[in-house]
Amino acid sequence: MAEKLEPHIAQKSPFAVEVEAGGKYFWCACGHSKKQPFCDGSHKGTGFAPVAFTAEQSGTVYLCGCKHTANAPYCDGTHAKL
Ligand code: FES
Ligand code: FES
Repeated sequence: MAEKLEPHIAQKSPFAVEVEAGGKYFWCACGHSKKQPFCDGSHKGTGFAPVAFTAEQSGTVYLCGCKHTANAPYCDGTHAKL
């Protein structure tokens, strides 16, 4: 059986970030980026790839920092159980 990849926990709380409508973003799924919550290429060799998303409206979004959300790239509260 293949082992499930475990992401690195960047922080056990979401990152509140400002996004712009129509902007394309790459959420770090591996947890190793130094530019949290966004991908900086550090996932190389980890088996993880960033999650791309386009903001539908301008404003604040809460992106998962623990990397264990079931609703990537958004925080779904899972961090409270880690
Ligand atoms: Fe984490 Fe790219 S650095 S997914
Ligand atoms: Fe990951 Fe909330 S920060 S689920």
